[in-house]
Amino acid sequence: MQHTTTDSAYKLLKSSVIHYKGEPIGTVAANDPNLASKNYQECFIRDFIPSALVFLMDGNTEIVSNFLTAVLQLRGQQKTMEGHEIAEGLMPASFEVDEHSNIIADFGDRAIGRVAPVDSALWWMILLRAYSITSGDVSLAHSNEFQKGIKMILKLYLKESFETSPAMLVPDGSFMIDRRMGVHGHPLEIQSLFYGMLRSAQELLLPNKENSELLAIVKKRSQTLRSYVRLYYWLDLQRLNEIHRYKAEEFGLEAVNLLNIYPDIIPDWIDGWLPSNAGYLVGNVGPGKIDFRFFALGNLLAILFGLTTDEQAQQIMLLYEARWDQLIGQIPLKILYPAVAGKEWAIMTGADPKNVAWSYHNGGHWPSLLWVFTGAALKAGREDMARRAIDIAFERLPRDCWPEYYDGKTGSLIGRRANLNQIWTATSLIISHQLMENPDSLSLFEALIF
Ligand code: GLC
Repeated sequence: MQHTTTDSAYKLLKSSVIHYKGEPIGTVAANDPNLASKNYQECFIRDFIPSALVFLMDGNTEIVSNFLTAVLQLRGQQKTMEGHEIAEGLMPASFEVDEHSNIIADFGDRAIGRVAPVDSALWWMILLRAYSITSGDVSLAHSNEFQKGIKMILKLYLKESFETSPAMLVPDGSFMIDRRMGVHGHPLEIQSLFYGMLRSAQELLLPNKENSELLAIVKKRSQTLRSYVRLYYWLDLQRLNEIHRYKAEEFGLEAVNLLNIYPDIIPDWIDGWLPSNAGYLVGNVGPGKIDFRFFALGNLLAILFGLTTDEQAQQIMLLYEARWDQLIGQIPLKILYPAVAGKEWAIMTGADPKNVAWSYHNGGHWPSLLWVFTGAALKAGREDMARRAIDIAFERLPRDCWPEYYDGKTGSLIGRRANLNQIWTATSLIISHQLMENPDSLSLFEALIF
């Protein structure tokens, strides 16, 4: 049973490979004749990450180095808006190879909603480190072209814009949730990826005289970001009690409630939902703002990359254990909890019918997140929980033809507008299976943690 499932996942992965000038260069997002949208035929940077991890695990490193090189070069295709300066470190959301063998990138200029792909360069740097460690080939990262690319990314992501905290400020829909979903400002997922990127860059940038100042800045920023997230994003019952009794309108340097949070923003569902032995990182923090929703990917990446303390990592896993039916349910993993509904949904999403309550990004279940759950569970010493989640996925995903996402409070329904044969659904299961069963995959695990 296990073999047939991984065989069929591998078959799907193989069928998804895109070639450029005869060389493998990426994988399409989905291989479904009835695609939900045309751009799923493209190679998305974030969707390719789990594909790349499977390739790296199998020693198939060529496609990964081709991908890393191509994406780096695609930066040159960015169109500048009139009156704007080009953001040289920006990487595209996706690319395609057209019928004339041209490779064409999308920087959000064609994407639905014209969203900005902030996460692409963050993932690219994290993948470059994983590639260097698992393949043993550091010459790619140390080449002039790549060193230049790494510096451009750092220049863009460390540039001051209108920050008032060490967290990074982004527009709505700038990462996996690439639609309007109230995730502008300082969303957790971006902070986790930003931290992973900075830690990767610290290892990838050559430690020479020319880089010493930049390396010192990278180190400092990753440290201040980490302290900030551990304090301001963390929520457990003790912290909730503090917020509940906050005084507001404090002016000046002595303020305790720095962000002027009014206790009334605490949502009703939190009391009784948050167990006394658990906690998690909230979804977003800003002036007068805490988004209390639980976002799976941001929390799990934070565990994997060591953005949380070990104790916080344990407590997040305890939350998963206590709220298994809501956060895992019928199929791992719920993207965020809880969904927004009614008027709040209309205002937050712009009345987006794909993101109605308990569907798609608004509380749907995404099997593509399973590999991160497995990695985080292993890091926190909770193999038992990883195994439990993988068993559910093994049973269900091939039977349902590898859906992109599921709907419903517990995820019992195949997503109404989900693609079938979604590649990162399959690759996520392969990685999870290998991490649990194959001791050789340990080097991949080590290439993902700090
Ligand atoms: C959807 C998802 C996005 C993903 C893309 C391709 O737009 O929201 O995260 O990269 O599909 O699968």
